[in-house]
Amino acid sequence: MRAPNPLLTTAVAICGLADGKALRSSSPADGGTSLLQTGYLIGNGKLGAIPFGPPGAEKLNLNVDSLWSGGPFEVEGYNGGNPSSPLYGALPGIRERIFQSGTGGMDELLGNGNHYGSNRVLGNLSVTFDGAPSYTNYKRTLDLDDGVHRTKFRINNSSAEIASSVFCSYPDQVCVYHLESTERLPVVAVKFENHLVEQSLLQSSCEGSTVRHSGLTQAGSPEGMKYAAVARVDPKSATTTCSSEGALQISAGKEVTIIISAETNYDQKAGNAQNNWSFKGADPGPVVERISSAASSRGYDSLLDRHVRDYQSLMGEFSLELPDPLRSESEDTDTAGLIEGYSYDGTGNPYLENLLFDYARHLLLSSSRANSLPANLQGRWTESLTPAWSADYHANINVQMNYWLADQTGLAETQHALWRYMADTWVPRGTETARLLYNASGWVVHNEMNVFGFTAMKEDALWANYPAAAAWLMQHVWDSFEYTQDAAWLDSQGYPLLKGVASFWLSSLQDDRFYHDGSLVANPCNSPETGPTTFSCAHYQQLIHQVFDSVLAAQEFIHPSSRDPQFVAAVTAALERLDKGLHFSSWGGIKEWKLPESFGYDGKSTHRHLSHLVGWYPGYSISSFANGYGANTSIQNAVRETLISRGMGNAEDANAGWAKVWRAACWARLNDSATAYGELRYAIDQNFVGNALSMYSGTEPPFQIDANFGFAGAVLSMLVVDLPVADGARMRTDSRTVVLGPAIPREWAGGRVKGLRIRGGGMVDFSWDARGVVNRARVVSRGTGGRVRLVNVEGHLLAEL
Ligand SMILES: *[C@@H]1O[C@H](CO)[C@@H](O)[C@H](O)[C@H]1NC(C)=O
Ligand SMILES: *[C@@H]1O[C@H](CO)[C@@H](O)[C@H](O)[C@H]1NC(C)=O
Ligand SMILES: *[C@@H]1O[C@H](CO)[C@@H](O)[C@H](O)[C@H]1NC(C)=O
Ligand SMILES: *[C@@H]1O[C@H](CO)[C@@H](O)[C@H](O)[C@H]1NC(C)=O
Ligand SMILES: *[C@@H]1O[C@H](CO)[C@@H](O)[C@H](O)[C@H]1NC(C)=O
Ligand SMILES: *[C@@H]1O[C@H](CO)[C@@H](O)[C@H](O)[C@H]1NC(C)=O
Ligand SMILES: *[C@@H]1O[C@H](CO)[C@@H](O)[C@H](O)[C@H]1NC(C)=O
Repeated sequence: MRAPNPLLTTAVAICGLADGKALRSSSPADGGTSLLQTGYLIGNGKLGAIPFGPPGAEKLNLNVDSLWSGGPFEVEGYNGGNPSSPLYGALPGIRERIFQSGTGGMDELLGNGNHYGSNRVLGNLSVTFDGAPSYTNYKRTLDLDDGVHRTKFRINNSSAEIASSVFCSYPDQVCVYHLESTERLPVVAVKFENHLVEQSLLQSSCEGSTVRHSGLTQAGSPEGMKYAAVARVDPKSATTTCSSEGALQISAGKEVTIIISAETNYDQKAGNAQNNWSFKGADPGPVVERISSAASSRGYDSLLDRHVRDYQSLMGEFSLELPDPLRSESEDTDTAGLIEGYSYDGTGNPYLENLLFDYARHLLLSSSRANSLPANLQGRWTESLTPAWSADYHANINVQMNYWLADQTGLAETQHALWRYMADTWVPRGTETARLLYNASGWVVHNEMNVFGFTAMKEDALWANYPAAAAWLMQHVWDSFEYTQDAAWLDSQGYPLLKGVASFWLSSLQDDRFYHDGSLVANPCNSPETGPTTFSCAHYQQLIHQVFDSVLAAQEFIHPSSRDPQFVAAVTAALERLDKGLHFSSWGGIKEWKLPESFGYDGKSTHRHLSHLVGWYPGYSISSFANGYGANTSIQNAVRETLISRGMGNAEDANAGWAKVWRAACWARLNDSATAYGELRYAIDQNFVGNALSMYSGTEPPFQIDANFGFAGAVLSMLVVDLPVADGARMRTDSRTVVLGPAIPREWAGGRVKGLRIRGGGMVDFSWDARGVVNRARVVSRGTGGRVRLVNVEGHLLAEL
């Protein structure tokens, strides 16, 4: 990574916009409904910001992670959708019907999504000055070397050049807006606004060198969620007054620095019985005063320096360097032009593909840090009070996909947001849900989760009745341990999560009373968003296989006092009898349900989800545990047939980006670089718009961030196959094989990777030849997790560690 540019804060640097990997535009981002199709996103995990608007009338759309409507801030006694009395009395009947007739329903267990709420926008900070309605030489960049959003322009065709820089700092917990000019700046006016909310619930004020904005999400009882934001100017560097409209007016010479802090009184640690499920924490007013004052006293240079160091420490953990044969990287090339000019039928554009990969890493560390909520359906960013699907946590692919890139690219720390969120908001209510709905131990959640412990089922059966979400997330828990080897974390947080989910499934699995084959199966179950409610869905069986295996593998790493021999014995016995969710259809694909084909469900389908391939990618219960990747051609062929039948991910009601990048990743695991790369190109062509964000359906809003993250995951799966072995204890003794470059297309010839993490804690650099075959690998660090052979796609040994 480059060192921070020392010229940045001098007048000379005004000419220097990003010269490396950057999003670039020669026109300002639009506000309103096009904000998420034109703006570039920045954030520090907790805070999100999107600068937009023309020179002289710039605004920042601001987000704070926990600002939600709904929950206990909207209704007394909010209980996460759980029923007031047990419903599990219906369960034996539900199960019996399904075993008798093959399919059934589970509507008796449905809950409701009342007061579920929604993530919502905090407001705009506007930064205006007179005289810029006419401007020239406008440039806007988001520099992925330092995470700073910059604009540069001249006003009134004069010689004065003005530049703005905006970044959100994790170390200082503020966003910073800096304006500088080669000549004296006009008077700059700063104020907060939110036109979307009931104005009587808002308070705005200007005092001294500070503007404040605070509010409540609702009037009356119970008290709404409180939020507060402050924008502060260093009084030493400027003369400030308050206008009659309450705007801060700054006369500052050639530079102005505005420091922004925002918070709510939400506290996820208070979402449990001990705290009366209040989710309520400290008043945000004093918090934002303290944070903004502390940041303000540092001064701009120090704030920038601390931000850049933090940003580069994470971004610099990994690099992918693809060639730029089309010479796309130039100050004069608009990113939107590259994306608009990109086509599936073309030869791709490695520069753009690399840029989207880097942007995914930027988006993850901007939306998920140790003190924030995890990245939601829109990461951290919305301009609305009611974003699509509440910008919540959908967990039948979406939140999982958000984190596909974390472990291997040195962003493991972004996942602490996810672990804390699960431990604090899913486990307490989900333990009740497990008991009330399933008479089960452990904990469970379903498909859609808010920040207030909603763990029950919502109304819509087909989408809601999905208790396998937590089992899927447990792959992330176990993977994170394998990549980081952080045994203290495994013991204190990772293993308790795993154990709770394993307990749920231990007490929920049933003897298969349809086939009477002695296997253990889930009943009721379904495949996300398609097909019948039935028993032994391949998706569930594969995921439960992984959960049980992780519990057993974890035993040797956890503290002896955490071990529980009876539980381990029960998991071992259940794993032995578990149906592993791997059956073949007559047409050569993987069956999605164990149900006989005569029921008519297992025909070819172009459905967007690949649920029955979850154990192929992103999971490994069929790609690794069944020895499918290395050797078993019947499994490989069945996966291929399934992928062919599933099509390109553009079917029926959703031409979704996540469906395409998931397919790309699966094809990569078949060593099929041409098809994997084709799917990646198709995703960019169909779903990515000019500001490099992915839209949900073709290029139509809403924005949904999963395909941005999943894009990077798919690229990683083209770069490496690093699978665990069943019973991870064996990793210590057996030699494991990692394949570098299973599916690197020729178009990426001459590229290289630095800092790829592998299981066991090792790290490698590698590069490839003109055919995309890896020919050089260097072990950077060995890790502690056992012996590994690094081979290329042709099976040649490259290195050992
Ligand atoms: C707990 O919450 C309920 C419902 O919101 C309220 O009626 C009750 O007074 C609260 N109890 C305590 C001890 O705060
Ligand atoms: C730019 O021009 C407009 C009208 O043409 C004028 O009102 C304004 O004061 C000028 N601004 C500056 C900074 O010179
Ligand atoms: C801006 O300045 C340039 C060069 O000084 C001149 O060619 C151009 O006509 C000016 N444009 C306007 C709108 O005044
Ligand atoms: C922010 O400003 C834009 C453009 O003026 C406006 O459309 C939008 O409603 C504002 N957002 C809020 C929350 O007021
Ligand atoms: C609920 O589970 C407990 C413990 O497994 C069991 O003893 C009890 O019979 C179950 N009740 C019903 C109604 O299934
Ligand atoms: C491949 O996997 C299938 C399904 O598990 C199994 O039936 C078959 O025996 C395996 N083939 C080989 C060669 O191991
Ligand atoms: C992919 O290549 C690796 C390394 O040569 C090999 O072990 C594996 O079996 C191949 N997989 C497929 C699906 O061909």
